[in-house]
Amino acid sequence: MCGIVAAVTQRNITNFLINSIKKLEYRGYDSSGLAIIDNRNNIMRIRCVGKVDELIKKTNKKKIFGNIGVAHTRWATHGKVSKENTHPHISSNIVVVHNGIIENHSTLRHFLQKKGYIFSSDTDTEVIAHLLHWEQNKKKDSLKKVIQNSIKKLDGNYSMVIIDQNNPTRLIAARSKSPLIIGLGIEENFIASDQIALLHTTKRFIYLEEGDIAIVEKKNINIFNKDNFTIKRQKIISNIEHKSVEKGQYRHYMEKEIYEQPESIRNTLKNRLKNNNKIFFSELGLKANNIFYNTENIQIVACGTSYNAGMVSRYWFESLANIPCNVEIASEFSSRKLIVRKKSLLITLSQSGETADTLSALRYSKKLGYLGNLTICNMESSSLVKESDFYILTKAGLEIGVASTKSFTTQLTVLLMLVAKIINLKQENNDISKKIIETLNILPIRIEEILKKNTLIKNIANILANKKNMLFLGRGNQYPIAMEGALKLKEISYIHAEAYQSGELKHGPLALIDKNIPVIMIAPKNSLFEKNKKNIKEICSRGGLIYVFSNQEFDYEDNINVIKLPYVEELIAPIFYIIPLQLLAYYIALKKGTDIDQPRHLAKSVTVE
Ligand code: F6R
Repeated sequence: MCGIVAAVTQRNITNFLINSIKKLEYRGYDSSGLAIIDNRNNIMRIRCVGKVDELIKKTNKKKIFGNIGVAHTRWATHGKVSKENTHPHISSNIVVVHNGIIENHSTLRHFLQKKGYIFSSDTDTEVIAHLLHWEQNKKKDSLKKVIQNSIKKLDGNYSMVIIDQNNPTRLIAARSKSPLIIGLGIEENFIASDQIALLHTTKRFIYLEEGDIAIVEKKNINIFNKDNFTIKRQKIISNIEHKSVEKGQYRHYMEKEIYEQPESIRNTLKNRLKNNNKIFFSELGLKANNIFYNTENIQIVACGTSYNAGMVSRYWFESLANIPCNVEIASEFSSRKLIVRKKSLLITLSQSGETADTLSALRYSKKLGYLGNLTICNMESSSLVKESDFYILTKAGLEIGVASTKSFTTQLTVLLMLVAKIINLKQENNDISKKIIETLNILPIRIEEILKKNTLIKNIANILANKKNMLFLGRGNQYPIAMEGALKLKEISYIHAEAYQSGELKHGPLALIDKNIPVIMIAPKNSLFEKNKKNIKEICSRGGLIYVFSNQEFDYEDNINVIKLPYVEELIAPIFYIIPLQLLAYYIALKKGTDIDQPRHLAKSVTVE
């Protein structure tokens, strides 16, 4: 949540800051700002409500020349969206940008007010700025010491970058619970919340770890760990291509990411499906095999789309591998007393690996006696990967659109591979795992086939775009696909959508059925089809408006709209059926003209609980 960029450069910094912060807009986009210490040593601050384009327009009108500065794009937590609440926050000579939440901000605010500080915003970040200033003036310590003293007083999470007008040659960064990365330039250095912001300038990075403080100058970087020892953190060379951060021929990142799914799934499968019908994840060691072999229960924890992926996999773990599996929303998991089942493996699922609720759940689980924990994640450098016993990468590639698409289908691909791996470990030469591997090999082709049905889906989207409410129905492992379809629709088109298990309709939601509420039903040809057919009839006989996504022929006369889809193997049907629902949500939002890549009130990486 919120994006931070900071730099100390040889060149004039203004364009660098605005180009870089624009790349972090996916982390929050309700307001943005920057502060530069100019060549005459004045703090030049520009802030505005709205997207980074507003900041760019405003900044371009002013001529600012300087070599050190910070920028921020905000997702509001404390205080409404307003210019006053927009970062950077300043206390005299101290400039701060911050990502996170300070839980004891109100106690600190009263304390600082008593010391004579006047607040101009409602934010917790301004509290940090004044606290730093107060600490600095109390003892005249070095800024590093001032920061160390101040953060001892902060409860919550904070990744922040500070500049001091009295020593405008260095940036100081402090990381706690939200990511911060240093980008290495040639006689200039940068800091950001995510390497995406800096890829246009460098591919060399250092990831800060929990509790680190870094002093970043043009030619030097010094990092101190939480015990104040100088520490060398590993330099990495990013393998992400700068062009993968661009939209290319597509109108939106979401559209690009939907169409990238065959390739993302191919990357996810590559070098992992072996000819001997085994699954090999190079990032897992032998110790993981031992844990999987002994696993008798699985607990999955995740949020949003990742939770929906977990829900699909529950059906696979139980029906294919005979392992009982629970799936829970992360924020609920860590807020109740839990009874851990015997020999349980905890699995967290996350695209970003920075979702605060999922991270808290992982930390909480460590006290509870799980056999071990595994994260399935798209970001190798993320906190979840670092803090988990084992990890498997989804290899979806960068996902920038706020609504998850390719991260969902690659999570499902990994989960199905994991099911096969566990079956293999527990029973040699199992036919089921052989079947899974054969079917996964076909998956990218099946996704290509369904993507070709885009015109069919676009036509339906044009009809449905003016609706206010929709119901999504699915049965068995297609129920979580209905949940994911409804989530996609509501988040990017703002149409209210609910998902139900098809069989649950008669227990209440049937009362909603009329000709104005479209019902989207996923009813592939499978053992549950006859039951779904009964539900379709129940809806039709009550005058409902129904759209059935299916690869089955319908031979009766009911007034239903059938979206006839190509054949797909039952094992991979959930991964296949989400594609038309992603397209449906996308084309409806396109028709409505909403902000598809950055829907209102949301952000991609949710680093607050
Ligand atoms: C929906 C969406 C969110 C995320 C959720 C978890 O399209 O993107 O619901 O799935 O915030 O995020 P990750 O997977 O990064 O933990």
